[in-house]
Amino acid sequence: MCGIFGYIGPHQAAPLLLEGLRRLEYRGYDSTGIAVKNGTINVHKKVGKVQDLRTVLPSSIPGTLGIAHTRWATHGGVTDENAHPHESAEGKVVIVHNGIIENARMLRTSLSVQGVALSSETDSEALAHVIERELSVDNNPEEAVRRALRQARGTWGICALFKDHDTIVCARNGSPLIIGQGVDEMFISSDPHALTAHTQQVIYLEDGDLATLTATSVKLSTLKGGKSQTKSSILESEWGESELGEFPHFMLKEIYEQPDAIRHCISGRLDRAGGSGRLGGLKLNPSDLAKVPHVRLLGCGTSYNAAEIGQLLIEKLARIPAMAHISSEFRHNDPVINPSALHFAVTQSGETADTLSAIKEIQLKGGNVHGVVNVVGSSIARLCGQGVYIHSGPEQAVASTKAFSNMVAALSMFALQVGRSRNISKERGVELIHGLQQVPHLVEEYLANQGPIQEAVDLVKDAKSVLFLGRGISAPVAQEGALKLMEIAYIPCLAYPAGEMKHGPIALLEEGSPVIFVAPNDHVKAKTVSAIHECRARGAKIILIHEEGDEIAQEGDVCISVPPVHNLVSPLLTVVPLQLIAYHTALALGCDVDRPRNLAKSVTVE
Ligand code: M6R
Repeated sequence: MCGIFGYIGPHQAAPLLLEGLRRLEYRGYDSTGIAVKNGTINVHKKVGKVQDLRTVLPSSIPGTLGIAHTRWATHGGVTDENAHPHESAEGKVVIVHNGIIENARMLRTSLSVQGVALSSETDSEALAHVIERELSVDNNPEEAVRRALRQARGTWGICALFKDHDTIVCARNGSPLIIGQGVDEMFISSDPHALTAHTQQVIYLEDGDLATLTATSVKLSTLKGGKSQTKSSILESEWGESELGEFPHFMLKEIYEQPDAIRHCISGRLDRAGGSGRLGGLKLNPSDLAKVPHVRLLGCGTSYNAAEIGQLLIEKLARIPAMAHISSEFRHNDPVINPSALHFAVTQSGETADTLSAIKEIQLKGGNVHGVVNVVGSSIARLCGQGVYIHSGPEQAVASTKAFSNMVAALSMFALQVGRSRNISKERGVELIHGLQQVPHLVEEYLANQGPIQEAVDLVKDAKSVLFLGRGISAPVAQEGALKLMEIAYIPCLAYPAGEMKHGPIALLEEGSPVIFVAPNDHVKAKTVSAIHECRARGAKIILIHEEGDEIAQEGDVCISVPPVHNLVSPLLTVVPLQLIAYHTALALGCDVDRPRNLAKSVTVE
């Protein structure tokens, strides 16, 4: 989604801004721009990638103070005019903005009435003009931004440059901004990733914060004008360099990183002697867990799919009701919140606006939310204040892979922990621990011998649509496979619990239709076989993900086997071939695997 990078210090700003934008590229965007101050403020912006922006830049852009932006269109089409930065009417103020200004229409109308000519269709541009109008009152940049934002309603991460002042003023409300403190220089970014090359000393702005930066100082305050409580912290080492190395794409690299990522996630969190999980960050002891009436899990996309697996594991092991919810629906349905219940917000980025809103809804109604989060220090991690970091390391491909696995691993450990406090025996706990500990090695074994992925790709790459089916714990895995193939190869995909297929989706099947079945050797396998027969009888071609040595292999046209593993952690194995099918199909179709069209890595608008 939109990204912001800014610099003030002794060095030339333009190369630093462009490098900052490059590091934000993985988030997904449709246009880019930079503004550098050198007496006046020079703005350059263009539809396309950072590389496209470079083609229109002069050979040198002098100036040691600047801001930059990658845009993912919300208000107004993808055009050069709508790209950021936006300039005020008299060129005294230039801004970049992430988020949505909800009363933009009203602000734009009032500006037009005052004779200000707006040059874009965006909500953001209005802010530049309003700040300039306020600047004319006392020529104080900080107060001008404060007064302007008090007139705005909505969300923002905003940075403003001023023609007549050597300062950057930035503010946050619902859209992340992080200040990086260097030696005699300051950086500002919407993503910790872009800061790691420069400094580890950071300040995560909180909602309602306003910061005024010079090369050597940061002045923090609140939008209301009071003192901010926000403190400086050290950037986690997990946000270190993540380059492609020998891999052609981040998605493939991240698929291969899964064994180590899972090791990292489970290490030190399994109590073999007690047959339980040991998730200290949850801040819940066994007697708390024994009293939990029910569990709710919230997430979007891949995180929702992982939450569904968590729901099944919690019910199975702890025998308490659990329910996964799509975050974007949650607060609009006015849910009943029981303050004694446990709520989990599952998210890779920790910045997903829909999940943030769902958390706020629960907190407003007196409930507690625990994060299951990858990005350390992200908005959701801080808002929850308790939970489990999944420790996947940086995930840069838009299509989530290793974060899914680690979410499932983390939720398995939680299910085990709550299960042990209420229902299951130590022996059953130890069996699951053993299963989980085997997973990293088994994923490595599978990656070394992937089976006929190319044959599966040949069946799906030209298909009108692909049906993904699974039962029980494999139904969310099928959903995850469908999401992966759809988002990076642009093939319409449908995922259904296998038993539901005969109630509707079967109408889609014709001679040669590809159907992907996820069928590990568990208690619902026999039922899945019936669904396979029903599909075959209609001429469908079956791509079967199954366990090695299982006789179910005779049911498929293309059979991809994974090593056998404890039933409850089978998603950690069966999802891997689905990730590979999506990856290789996207490649075969010439799609941009890491940065699929229209998508963003973290979706920071509702
Ligand atoms: O950062 P989050 O986990 O909250 O993101 C949620 C979804 O936007 C994300 O999983 C999305 O569906 C991915 N592109 C899936 O690969």
